[in-house]
Amino acid sequence: MKLARRVAIVGVGLTKFGALGQVTSRELFTEAAFKAMQDAGAEHSDIDAIYVGNLSSDLFESQLHTGPIYPDYLGLKHIPSARVEGACASGGIALRTAVMAVASGMHDTVIAGGVEKMTNLPTSEVTQVLAYCSDGICEVPMGITFPGVFAMMARRHMHEYGTTEEDLAQVAVKNHDNGLLNPYAQFHKAITVEKVMNSVKVAEPLKLYDCSPITDGAAAVVVTAVENLDKFTGHPVEILASVQASESMALQHRRDLTGFKTTRVAAERAYKMAGVGPKDIQIAEVHDCFTIAEVMAIEDLGFVPKGEGGKAVQEGITTRDGQLPVNTSGGLKAKGHPIGATGIAQAIEVVSQIRGEAGPRQVSDVELGLTQNLGGSGATIVVHILGKM
Ligand code: COA
Repeated sequence: MKLARRVAIVGVGLTKFGALGQVTSRELFTEAAFKAMQDAGAEHSDIDAIYVGNLSSDLFESQLHTGPIYPDYLGLKHIPSARVEGACASGGIALRTAVMAVASGMHDTVIAGGVEKMTNLPTSEVTQVLAYCSDGICEVPMGITFPGVFAMMARRHMHEYGTTEEDLAQVAVKNHDNGLLNPYAQFHKAITVEKVMNSVKVAEPLKLYDCSPITDGAAAVVVTAVENLDKFTGHPVEILASVQASESMALQHRRDLTGFKTTRVAAERAYKMAGVGPKDIQIAEVHDCFTIAEVMAIEDLGFVPKGEGGKAVQEGITTRDGQLPVNTSGGLKAKGHPIGATGIAQAIEVVSQIRGEAGPRQVSDVELGLTQNLGGSGATIVVHILGKM
């Protein structure tokens, strides 16, 4: 698997992440997309198509058929535009769709974005909407929720590998530390392991600080063919691999609850596509929707041996000055998780690090970074590898 033509991200744009009050997702997306176009130095006439990751503008905002709204608000009338949905991996799929459109030669320059306006509904209703990303026949009718799904995985990981609640808490502490340095993050709050351990129980063993929050926000990137780069002023970063993998929705149909086969399959294909291995990756943004998900991600991506994710976090391997910094943006845990925007925001952090534009959270000399974006309980995974040009 190879891209038929080389593709790069040439512009990036983010809104603030958080509880943003009376604003619509179309306004949030417009802000992020304009910023990305400005960063790229793109004219309106340069943009051929738009793909936007969004889980549920219908249930959160009573708005379906959002595709045409995005180009309309951007003053880009008549270009093709569509919403892309794959649970929490919607943004990653939107980016991959843009990559395929450009690599195939169908389009030259495309905006890939993501947006979610979640805080219109109370937590109980958001939880219900998110639960619809599980299997609607054998899980949702039983009352499953995402904290419950990841709590079961955490229990199994603890049972099989001796991972502790303190290991999980350390993931939250690290990501809150990183979030402190990210002006776009939802939380700017340092926490301690003790604070995590004493926080309210959500679905045991997961507590408040083991969970990503409910977030509004948008993210966008301008994707173009490397052969077009002289049209743009933005500092380009190449997309070396763009891979998606699928798995049975229901946990009961899987052999293993301590990791994601989808991540392992997607990572293997992505390393092959980029011609690199896990040891070459210098930073990673992984899908820490719950702290256990980051532990499983670093194992499944081949960064640490199976079962040693918790230990690796305790040893500081994944801190900003560690051997492999993970979630320098603050991750979903502290930066926030506006579902559709997350996969794009992960790519933006890696682009910023490779460009050397990550400010106080900059890791030195980053040339190669990876994103892992997970949908639902891991039935969809998207992995991208980005490299310096
Ligand atoms: N991490 C840290 N602090 C959080 C938080 C989180 N995940 N969620 C809320 N808070 C804070 C709020 O800022 C608020 O602090 P304050 O009192 O100092 O202002 C306080 O906790 C209460 O916030 P509230 O919004 O009332 O919390 P809640 O009980 O309604 O929701 C969760 C908390 C954990 C249930 C909710 O964030 C949640 O469901 N998260 C998971 C989302 C999810 O499943 N995403 C998909 C993943 S696949």
